[in-house]
Amino acid sequence: MLNRVNHVAIAVPDLAVAAAFYRDVLGAEVSEPVDLIDHGVTSIFVQISNMKLELLAPLGENSPISGYLAKNPAGGLHHLCFEVKDIQGSTAVLEASGVRVLNQPKPGAHGRPIIFMHPKDTFGCLLELEEAS
Ligand code: CO
Repeated sequence: MLNRVNHVAIAVPDLAVAAAFYRDVLGAEVSEPVDLIDHGVTSIFVQISNMKLELLAPLGENSPISGYLAKNPAGGLHHLCFEVKDIQGSTAVLEASGVRVLNQPKPGAHGRPIIFMHPKDTFGCLLELEEAS
């Protein structure tokens, strides 16, 4: 089911500070912030040669990452995203295997359909799948 890693996401308390670190200290190519209202986050992508980092900050009052940042005020690793060919087929396989899929496929940060799996069903690591173009 899994193809390449698309991104690793890091929740951060201050997007501008985190973006400046990756851009100015580490010399990486950093995108402009994008508000993902549906997902309750603002995200910035950092382009690395073989993958991306997604820097995430809460957007709105019910952001799904607010609780994570309350527990990890300095920020921390938040999720991994793998590319798949067929998100509907992958979702069906996961659900048939007893993995809780947290959302129906919906457009993510790249406009491609994504799903998240319940971290209690994936060894404590929040996993995202994105249908690759
Ligand atoms: Co992501």
